[in-house]
Amino acid sequence: MNNKDLNTTEILEKENSPQSSPHNNPDQYNGEVLDYQSVKPKNTNNKKLYIESYGCQMNFSDSEIVASILSEAGYGTTTNIEEADLILLNTCAIRDNAEQRIRKRLTQFKQLKSDNPNMVVGVLGCMAERLKAKLLDEEKLVDIVAGPDAYRSLPGLIDEVDDGRKAVNVLLSREETYADISPVRLDKNGVTAFISIMRGCDNMCSFCVVPFTRGRERSRDPKSIVHEAHDLFDKGYREVTLLGQNVDSYRWNLTKKGELKKEGEPSVNFAQLMAMVAEVNPKLRVRFSTSHPKDMTNDVLETMSAYENICNYIHLPVQSGNSNVLERMNRTYTREWYLERIEAIRRIIPECAISTDVISGFCGETEEEHEETKSLMEFVQFDFAYMFKYSERPRTLAERKFEDDVPEEVKTRRLTEIINIQSAHSLISNKKTIGKEYEVLIEKTSKRSEEHWAGRTSQNAMVVFPKLDEKTGDYVKVKIFDCTAATLIGERTA
Ligand code: SAH
Ligand code: SF4
Ligand code: F3S
Repeated sequence: MNNKDLNTTEILEKENSPQSSPHNNPDQYNGEVLDYQSVKPKNTNNKKLYIESYGCQMNFSDSEIVASILSEAGYGTTTNIEEADLILLNTCAIRDNAEQRIRKRLTQFKQLKSDNPNMVVGVLGCMAERLKAKLLDEEKLVDIVAGPDAYRSLPGLIDEVDDGRKAVNVLLSREETYADISPVRLDKNGVTAFISIMRGCDNMCSFCVVPFTRGRERSRDPKSIVHEAHDLFDKGYREVTLLGQNVDSYRWNLTKKGELKKEGEPSVNFAQLMAMVAEVNPKLRVRFSTSHPKDMTNDVLETMSAYENICNYIHLPVQSGNSNVLERMNRTYTREWYLERIEAIRRIIPECAISTDVISGFCGETEEEHEETKSLMEFVQFDFAYMFKYSERPRTLAERKFEDDVPEEVKTRRLTEIINIQSAHSLISNKKTIGKEYEVLIEKTSKRSEEHWAGRTSQNAMVVFPKLDEKTGDYVKVKIFDCTAATLIGERTA
């Protein structure tokens, strides 16, 4: 097929369909099921685990830790739910609709459970942590509830269920980083992988449930991170994404004030960690998520610019363009501070793509404040954005302190306005690439056509181009000749 025959709208739909991996899925926070593969366990007990992941990339990464722990206990993974002995849902609690989705999914298991009464159903992740044992009463189908720091206890929890009891472990930890666990890679592509570098969050943004579901912030031993990156490279992986809720506050052997915790031992901050991972191999691309505007230093930007293989892409959630709203959100930066950080990115890494998160209709948001979010978006012209209506979450500062007083229809209208601005900007951003040449890392066959590859540029844009003699994991030069708001279409030049 001639690449010019491709219907660009269809490509857009296919490359970003719910089945695609969160690596390229713009709806990463709303939760999707990965394009998983079945993996054989180390020592089999002939039992099979079926796992679905929702929410952010951290959850997708955690599911690979869970698969590893259960592999040691004899479970292989399956992508066929009907043959599963154990079904686990790794859940998200970030917005109410994320939880409603999980509840709906659970009810779909009723039939499966009545067909196979020995089937065990477990709820993991942030919704498990938030609702704890209540989930057992609310959802009679659930046998196991395990929070994000309790995954090592899963084999024991399964034993309890086998003995006829329901099992819950939602203890949060100050130390757990699963550093010694080598994740079972569930994603099919074999080219890109997540590496979790820290857990939890200490920021207490007033709208956010994460500090309650994930506990205190803690960083993982840099040696184990670099070791994991080496191991992935040796296995053929060519891109790693370093994950944390606020990667810029990664610190090893350092207090929050920047003092050494243990004298005589080296300390590592995020910029240094990134350099260590980039040095694993120049052919290993490095990405990271998420940066926090208050903590993203020029050090980080300079390290990005110094290493060719650290991708030119930053996800820098702004949330609102108005300083008063930002204050109510407890984001601890102002509009001006944010814009100065954008200016620093553009000065230090001119080719850098920037994406963001925006919340519309936060408590007390006036029309003028909303207009400031729009004007900030117009000013920055983000390459991409994830946009949400504010959803009040139990126990958060906002729930206790402010009224969720923006009417639903106003939230919706404001969100639509924001989405319209962003759609135009995403298209402009993609159109700018037409006629230019990019280095693309090939990830997989395009969902649209067997004859096309899909891969990404350093700036995180998805590119589709006709196959020649390449294979996944290869770097190729592709010249762009067309685009949609979500996908670039090109042809190989070298
Ligand atoms: N740690 C990241 C974000 C994690 S949550 C950061 O600090 O930027 C991902 C996004 O979900 C947030 O950036 C925010 O835009 C959105 N979000 C979080 N809580 C929300 C809520 N209560 N209602 C609507 N959106 C929310
Ligand atoms: Fe939530 Fe804020 Fe932490 Fe992000 S930085 S996870 S928005 S509390
Ligand atoms: Fe959701 Fe928990 Fe991530 S609430 S966004 S899965 S940290």
